[in-house]
Amino acid sequence: MPKIQTIFFCQNCGAQSSKWIGKCPACNEWNTYVEEVIKKDSSSLKKKLSAQHQAQPKLISEINSDTARRIDTGNNELNRVLGGGIVPGSLVLIGGEPGIGKSTLMLQVALGIKDNKVLYITGEESEQQIKMRSERINAYSDNCYILNETNTQNIFQLIESLNPGIVIIDSVQTLQTELIESSAGSISQIRECASEFQKYSKLTSTPVFLIGHITKDGIIAGPKILEHMVDTVLQFEGDRNNMYRILRSVKNRFGSTSELGIFEMQGNGLREVSNPSEILLSQRDESHSGIAVSSTIEGLRPLLIEVQSLVSSAAYGTPQRSSTGFDLRRMNMLLAVLEKRCGFRLGTKDVFLNIAGGIRVDDPAIDLAVIASVLSSNEDIALDMKCCFAAEVGLSGEIRAVNRIEQRISEAEKLGFDEIAISKYNALNLDPGNFKIKIIALQKIEDLLKYLFG
Ligand code: TYD
Ligand code: MG
Repeated sequence: MPKIQTIFFCQNCGAQSSKWIGKCPACNEWNTYVEEVIKKDSSSLKKKLSAQHQAQPKLISEINSDTARRIDTGNNELNRVLGGGIVPGSLVLIGGEPGIGKSTLMLQVALGIKDNKVLYITGEESEQQIKMRSERINAYSDNCYILNETNTQNIFQLIESLNPGIVIIDSVQTLQTELIESSAGSISQIRECASEFQKYSKLTSTPVFLIGHITKDGIIAGPKILEHMVDTVLQFEGDRNNMYRILRSVKNRFGSTSELGIFEMQGNGLREVSNPSEILLSQRDESHSGIAVSSTIEGLRPLLIEVQSLVSSAAYGTPQRSSTGFDLRRMNMLLAVLEKRCGFRLGTKDVFLNIAGGIRVDDPAIDLAVIASVLSSNEDIALDMKCCFAAEVGLSGEIRAVNRIEQRISEAEKLGFDEIAISKYNALNLDPGNFKIKIIALQKIEDLLKYLFG
């Protein structure tokens, strides 16, 4: 008689406890503990699995690095986010809210890779549904196999006979292993199934993509507990009502984590957006107050981004401060700088800030555009539409230099801007003769005021 043991798992962070507790001591969430059954007596199956692949120690000099042999996904945006293609033996987690387009993206990838056998395992949809989707996105491949299965032992048996070059799992929440008795989607199942695929990918050098759902508040946060286990975590985000989707790398053992891929959801699948600056600058025929454009860099790519703000008198005692796509604390700091250095009475005003296109920006070079847009809205004077900004702002109101300024200036020039305001310290090292665009060098925030409003 196998010994049955139950453990309580926090559904938010995966912490375990032998008793039910109301508040998780690890992540401080309430009511997240759920009882799960663990069949402890799984040694025979485990032994069978590990006997198949007995690892031996190797000299580091004898191990050949496979990094040069990246697999092209046929999708430039995905390649870029992965750091230049799929690394053999990597385990990639793609997380996102339901309905954002994860299955569509991965099916497009599966059908786009022609020189590798791709196995697409679906536990959520039937083979017919996948076929219908492939017809919708109008793609066809001779090398893509669809398998409707959720039991990992059956999957590994099939993988052994098929020997695929790439495995895609849609989704990790539907997988179930015989080693654990709790139901599919529970923390212990997700963790065990993912670790089986991790072993498989490392031992056979086969890249594995795991699709995982995240809800808005992250409570069915299966993917969260996997983050340390996988090599790369990609997050697919965007507003379901907006057609643009952003694929962001949150963790990447083989590339930069500041990369972004931008897609547009169309009637026939996801289209890569290779000129994002053009879509991020909202359609403008006339100039409005409160809008400023910043030349930022996300990953390796320059992006021109529109910052919009609205400053209005606070209707209630405490003024509201709200920001979408930009760090709220940073915005409060910039407002305090404006108050202290330029004497603007923003303490009695509501300030709303928005980055166009639903994008989130961490680049400090956007500071100057944020300040310019707040000033423009406060004064209700529209800024020149042909001018953009790229500089950081310090606590004493000084305008600081930012990295890769030439690239920012060139991008602004390419998109038809006439002037770009940058830090004086950046301008010192530049030859203005190299650029057709007029470069405005600013040292202090007072210089910005003078430049904007004369
Ligand atoms: P899906 O890939 O099923 O999302 P996920 O796997 O992340 O849950 O796609 C979700 C939405 O995308 C769905 O509401 C329909 C829409 N869609 C399109 O607009 N165009 C298309 O070509 C496809 C395949 C889907
Ligand atoms: Mg799906």
